[in-house]
Amino acid sequence: MTDDSDSETDADGDGTASADETADADDRVPVLLVKGDREYLIQPGGEQGTDLGVLEVPEDVQPGDTIETHLGEAFRVRRLRGPDLFHQFERTGAPMVPRDVGLVIGETGVSQGDRVLDTGTGTGVLAASMARAGAEVVTYERDPEFADVARENMKLGGVDDSVDVRTGDLTEEIDALEPSSFDVLTLDTGDAAAVVEHAPDLLVDGGFVAVYSPFIESTREVVAAAREVELSNVRTRETIQREMQFDDRGSRPSTAPVGHTGYLTIARNV
Ligand SMILES: C[S@@+](CC[C@H](N)C(=O)[O-])C[C@H]1O[C@@H](n2cnc3c(N)ncnc32)[C@H](O)[C@@H]1O
Repeated sequence: MTDDSDSETDADGDGTASADETADADDRVPVLLVKGDREYLIQPGGEQGTDLGVLEVPEDVQPGDTIETHLGEAFRVRRLRGPDLFHQFERTGAPMVPRDVGLVIGETGVSQGDRVLDTGTGTGVLAASMARAGAEVVTYERDPEFADVARENMKLGGVDDSVDVRTGDLTEEIDALEPSSFDVLTLDTGDAAAVVEHAPDLLVDGGFVAVYSPFIESTREVVAAAREVELSNVRTRETIQREMQFDDRGSRPSTAPVGHTGYLTIARNV
């Protein structure tokens, strides 16, 4: 955002931004400006320097519009969609890839009206994706700088109203949380087992736990903790995908390295 665009919050020209004008500025949902493999996520009213010239995005920009840089290079305007979060968010803690986000949401049924407890926030891709599915998300990040970046990412994703990024270590904050106040608990941390022990207290009856881990050792601890507190339907699956190649010679799985990302453990509080 440039100084110019900031001054546009003063729509009535009185030198100050009124409460309504500030609210309007805060409500602006960023759009994607796309040309070939160049993509920029920019707020309406914002400005972006590119190697093809400067893009000035009008306040009333709409998906489907075309905007030219000051050098006459045309970019198409697109609405942000879920998989774009992975590419556009500023990265801190390793973000969850779109297919694993899909598995978490599909396996737990996260949807409109759900309250989700998520840890750790990291880049915030999973938290933002669940908010886009309609949930209210409370997410903990123990690294204060990561938490600040995640808050900015939530604004970029247009979900800062639905995601409460709290700075802190969840294992130290559990006792302060209201019992049975979450529908779903999502964990993407090495110490997830220590939180799973509290899942029956945190979750409503029928609520789900989803734990994502790149390593089998921590996954084993999670399964043991889930069994210990008698969560039901405890299942772990490796998340892996083989890309297919289609060319003139024939069709076969890609010879690129195996697409393992991690292990996903799902359990239910019943
Ligand atoms: C792999 S990243 C999470 C990525 C996130 N799921 C996403 O999609 O962007 C793990 C994050 O958890 C944080 N973390 C680890 N243990 C934590 C804890 N007990 N409480 C809060 N944050 C924690 C780390 O600092 C790190 O940023």
